[in-house]
Amino acid sequence: MKRLIAVANQKGGVGKTTTAVNLAASLAATRRRVLLIDLDPQGNATMGCGVEKYQLERGVGDVLVGNCSATEAIVPLPTLGMALLPANQDLTAAEVQLLTMTVGREMRLRQALKPVRDQYDVILIDCPPALNMLTVNALVAADSVLVPMQCEYYALEGLSALVGTIEQIRASVNPDLEIEGVLRTMFDPRNNLSNEVSSQLLTHFGDKVFRTIIPRNVRLAEAPSFGKPALLHDKDSRGALAYLALAGEMIRREEDEAQQVAAAAAAATAAVAPVVAATADGAVADFAAAPLPSPPPASVPTPASPSSAETAGTVATESAAADDAPASELQPAAAAPLQPGPASAPESESGSTPASGEARTPA
Ligand SMILES: Nc1ncnc2c1ncn2[C@@H]1O[C@H](COP(=O)(O)OP(=O)(O)OP(=O)(O)O)[C@@H](O)[C@H]1O
Ligand SMILES: [Mg+2]
Repeated sequence: MKRLIAVANQKGGVGKTTTAVNLAASLAATRRRVLLIDLDPQGNATMGCGVEKYQLERGVGDVLVGNCSATEAIVPLPTLGMALLPANQDLTAAEVQLLTMTVGREMRLRQALKPVRDQYDVILIDCPPALNMLTVNALVAADSVLVPMQCEYYALEGLSALVGTIEQIRASVNPDLEIEGVLRTMFDPRNNLSNEVSSQLLTHFGDKVFRTIIPRNVRLAEAPSFGKPALLHDKDSRGALAYLALAGEMIRREEDEAQQVAAAAAAATAAVAPVVAATADGAVADFAAAPLPSPPPASVPTPASPSSAETAGTVATESAAADDAPASELQPAAAAPLQPGPASAPESESGSTPASGEARTPA
């Protein structure tokens, strides 16, 4: 998992804000230091975190045009264990002001975040539904892009524009920008089209498609009206569990990558010719290079007691419940073997009967 992740897709209503808010809350529940940035003048992520967008003293728009620093505009959210850089309709005026700038307008967010980046383990940016100057600012600032996609007709349309923009930004100011992953959202396994589009996504993006699938779930839809992520609204709902599973998948991916880097370093060391040293009595001893221990990934502590669930090619299910621990104690899933298979949880909160192999028993 990269440190600064833009949640982007210029298509509207695909679940960007729902993903940004609920993933931020899930990562915060694993005791990571999380900042959520609302970069959409609709201010949905702001409201979804329980901050009244019409009463903002300062927002991300002020930060972008230099009226204040990021630190001055960030709002702590103690009940969620994270922080928010909020937005409202003033961000539209800020964007217009950005467009009049001739130099460095696409770098404004990146520069503004520099002083605060190290204060957070993860920063998530909720982008607007457009490939505009705000989204460009997010992509220039980000390490990676998470693309939520609703598995419906036209889902792939427009994706090439997003990928093209990512490539342009890579070729110019942000060569390290990666695709963090493609996330299937609002998934309804009873819908044949959903399954078809899902397999198209797998064909196009391969292992960049997250195994976790976010089901269509009423708790996810209603939680914003309570100004809460689903984890605080109904922590046992399939929606809340699915986003916990996504957080777990991202954390495990990062740990796997760190292990691969350590293994590669060990292999490189071992490839150096064995040190041959003469011992005191003239015998020759071979000191093969010892393999390096795998260091824990920087700034991403391994959860102490994983207790949640991840779905592998399946949606999270009730029986994969994260136990009765309070949200602040929820941990990401343990590294469970991944299972292929179609998603098959129905939408209703009650009575969902997972198909065999879907349920995860908390570790
Ligand atoms: N998994 C889900 N299950 C049910 N409803 C969902 C789910 N995800 C999102 N929704 C609902 O779908 C609508 C669109 O979601 P959301 O606002 O997250 O999309 P968005 O991509 O941020 O939209 P926009 O492009 O306007 O910013 C919202 O009403 C939201 O509550
Ligand atoms: Mg949105």
